[in-house]
Amino acid sequence: MHDLLFLAAAVLYGAASVALLAHLARGGEGASARLGPRLLALAAALHLALRLAGVGPGSVVLAPTLTFVATLNAVAYCGAEPWFVDVDPLTWNVSGDTLEHALRAARAAGRDPRFVMVTHLYGVPADLDGVTALCAREGLTLLEDAAESLGSWWRGRHTGTFGRAAALSFNGNKIVTAGQGGALLLASQEDAAQARHLATQARVGRAGYTHDAVGFNYRMANLNAALGLAQVESLPALRLRRRAVQAAYQLALEETEAIALQGVPSGAEVNGWLQGARVTARARCDRDGLLAALDARGIDARAVFQPMHRQAMFRGCGGACPAAEAVADTGLNLPNGPDTDVPRVIRALREGLGAGM
Ligand SMILES: Cc1ncc(COP(=O)(O)O)c(C=O)c1O
Repeated sequence: MHDLLFLAAAVLYGAASVALLAHLARGGEGASARLGPRLLALAAALHLALRLAGVGPGSVVLAPTLTFVATLNAVAYCGAEPWFVDVDPLTWNVSGDTLEHALRAARAAGRDPRFVMVTHLYGVPADLDGVTALCAREGLTLLEDAAESLGSWWRGRHTGTFGRAAALSFNGNKIVTAGQGGALLLASQEDAAQARHLATQARVGRAGYTHDAVGFNYRMANLNAALGLAQVESLPALRLRRRAVQAAYQLALEETEAIALQGVPSGAEVNGWLQGARVTARARCDRDGLLAALDARGIDARAVFQPMHRQAMFRGCGGACPAAEAVADTGLNLPNGPDTDVPRVIRALREGLGAGM
């Protein structure tokens, strides 16, 4: 955890830390990752990540449909086309199998995806064994939306250190916040230098106003970075408190057939950022009915993300995603702030769900 804290601190200050990331990536061959710059927002970081990886007009990116819109917006900013990938119905994330299925379907439709984007949804790592094996076998470049997974690990290696580039978010609702902002984790020194360059208006040299490319003003403000650095000190404690809330849900709901918690694949250690749950056919009401029942009892729960292939701007894109649709129609996030009163939420769930509890 000490290393993780150091990682986040280093990210916020944009400092490179080879030894640290090599340590984070222990178990991975030739781990030589470098930290990139701290950035205005995760969306900006993802945009740069895709640009650096070579995503552009004509590129096809295999991307999750069950994610926040910023993941897909970054693909669109590059003029690329997403091909949507379905999820594992238990973990709600893309897996090696769902990616392979999507890759075959895309090729059958005459597309040639060269890039894979994964999101570690609600802090639960995607099946990184399956994903990295497929990418290696097929020569695909992996990019990670690690917005929600600071403090989540896969077989002892931190999420965000598996792809060529990954983005973290320090937005206000995240486990560690800088008010706003994000950071890039990059697997090569060259990408890190190029990311800094593009994020600072592609300015050449310190003095004068010479620029060698169309760049961006994507830097995080120092004030936000200072706030984030103070927050980062609490990361281990915040993570433990969220994990304790999750453990209490797990215990209280394990016998319950009316609700099924988002699964955690073996090999994953989660940060506990959000607790996902699905209302099953054994419940007396559907998801929206449960949300209304919780709301009436003063409990703030939310529906999960709407799949991106249902959003107006991505409706024409390829990829069938029935499992993601089922999660989207039945899933919600239970409250799991550090101070959540779990027994009160469980009581409200029992009253709302009725049979099967
Ligand atoms: C999966 C995912 N991607 C991207 C973002 C966008 O992050 P930011 O608000 O820092 O741009 C978020 C959260 O807001 C997210 O949850």
